[in-house]
Amino acid sequence: MRIGILGSGLMGGKLGTIWARAGHEVVFSYARSEQKLKKLAREAQGNAKAGTPGEAAREAGALLLAVHWSRVDDVLKQAGDLSGKTIVSCSLPMNADNTDLVIAHTSSGAEALAKRVPKARIVSAFGTVPSEVLFGVFAARRKARKPSLVYCGDDARSKKIAAELIRDVGFDAVDAGPLRIARYTEPFTLLIAQLAYEGDEGPELAYRFEGFARKR
Ligand SMILES: NC(=O)c1ccc[n+]([C@@H]2O[C@H](COP(=O)([O-])OP(=O)(O)OC[C@H]3O[C@@H](n4cnc5c(N)ncnc54)[C@H](OP(=O)(O)O)[C@@H]3O)[C@@H](O)[C@H]2O)c1
Repeated sequence: MRIGILGSGLMGGKLGTIWARAGHEVVFSYARSEQKLKKLAREAQGNAKAGTPGEAAREAGALLLAVHWSRVDDVLKQAGDLSGKTIVSCSLPMNADNTDLVIAHTSSGAEALAKRVPKARIVSAFGTVPSEVLFGVFAARRKARKPSLVYCGDDARSKKIAAELIRDVGFDAVDAGPLRIARYTEPFTLLIAQLAYEGDEGPELAYRFEGFARKR
């Protein structure tokens, strides 16, 4: 699949690298220097290149939106027409100093994004884990016991694409339902961040849901 990365920072840089190594075609876009995008593409050691957001969006089977909430409008404007595109978003609606959600409870960042680009198909995914864990999960992808990763969205086809991308990283993809469930997954991320950055184990942290019904 061709994947356009909109925002090549901690999340976009690592996920794009992993997907290139998993065999996808990746276009890194939106950083403050083109040099950084080129370096990411080079070091991905796969089918990856640097481009503009418009180039990343063109012919993309999926886009990853991975920018600070304050940059969403700007990157979407640069990406151009996103009608019919699958946008997998890990972007959280955080305030300027990343201390709190600016949308919560009665809506979510994912739903606000869907209103902002109504013709695109939004899936909320990857926002519930710290970037620091991504390479470790990918390295352990062949192990039987995988960490979970929740995702939600309203479009079945796009959710299937997102689930494939989640599995490519090495997670068990857990379908949490429609996009409005991002009202619960986004605040959950603040718990994960608390454990990752204030806890004793460090930020290489993921979570796993265990089903017990089968095991009784
Ligand atoms: N980091 C995490 O562990 C984590 C976990 C879950 C969810 N999230 C969410 O995921 C999203 C991305 O987070 P992140 O940590 O990956 O952010 P980040 O490292 O700051 O990456 C954002 C990207 O946007 C680029 N950018 C910022 N301002 C720009 C501008 N004016 N022009 C062009 N490019 C610009 C940055 O460029 P530079 O590369 O030049 O800085 C960077 O490539 C956020 O919404 C965050 O809340 C993050």
